[in-house]
Amino acid sequence: MGQHYDDVACEYEVTRLEQHSAVEREMTERYLERFVPSGSTVADVGVGHYDELLARRRCRLHLVDVSARLLETALGRLESCGLSGHVLDAQVASATDLAHLSDASWDAVLLLGPLCHLLTLAERQRAVREARRVLRGDGLLAASGCNRIVGVGGGYYLEPERCIEPLEDYRQFVADGIVEPDLAPTIGHAHFTGAAEFRALFEGVFEEAMFVGIESFTGSRQKIFSEISPDAQQAWLDLVEATAATAEGIGLSEHFLFIGRPQSDW
Ligand SMILES: C[S@@+](CC[C@H](N)C(=O)[O-])C[C@H]1O[C@@H](n2cnc3c(N)ncnc32)[C@H](O)[C@@H]1O
Repeated sequence: MGQHYDDVACEYEVTRLEQHSAVEREMTERYLERFVPSGSTVADVGVGHYDELLARRRCRLHLVDVSARLLETALGRLESCGLSGHVLDAQVASATDLAHLSDASWDAVLLLGPLCHLLTLAERQRAVREARRVLRGDGLLAASGCNRIVGVGGGYYLEPERCIEPLEDYRQFVADGIVEPDLAPTIGHAHFTGAAEFRALFEGVFEEAMFVGIESFTGSRQKIFSEISPDAQQAWLDLVEATAATAEGIGLSEHFLFIGRPQSDW
């Protein structure tokens, strides 16, 4: 996966949130601002634009990614904003093995992306348990997953006439959630999940504090967001939030967001 993000997907990932997923970015930032106190120590596992927000809020960051190039890009972005002083360390590693981090040492762990690229349940469970291990008892986990049913729609809308030929591939995807790279080159090998399946991943390890669909009704129409006025944008975001925890809002979203507190008896 590191290779995929180093090569094929690097350029796309660097601009993705700005060009294609503005609602995802705004809503994730809104929730992070609410749940991650200023000045926290944060391990961001699967790095991205949120480090800038956290650094501006005086958080001290440890950056982890399987892609050396995305790690360098994140560091470069923080440096260009004069925020690199907030980075404690950066490490190429997988969410499934954070052996370089001590037990109970972080206020918050972000898993915004890696769970979508861990193909087996055992790997996803290992990542969740690693996050729990490195978190303080009163810490916070923010983890995202990709919504399988919206993923099906994404493929069909993109090439409506092409759906007949790969019908069997889509059936397979609906059954197991595994995205094959040739079906979605920018995503690469991935696992898309369902709301119940994603929530179950944290059971017994984290207490759920919030579970929402990040984009709610704006789902695959986020591009319109960047074309509307700032006042309208705020109204959109408020309505997205008002509907984000409903079954419908969760179902329409491209991404799920789980916020959890460590369970003591895990
Ligand atoms: C879709 S991007 C999301 C980036 C950013 N956190 C965001 O939410 O926009 C997925 C990120 O997770 C990283 N990643 C994928 N698998 C990983 C793993 N097993 N461990 C750590 N990072 C991983 C990728 O290299 C990439 O930076």
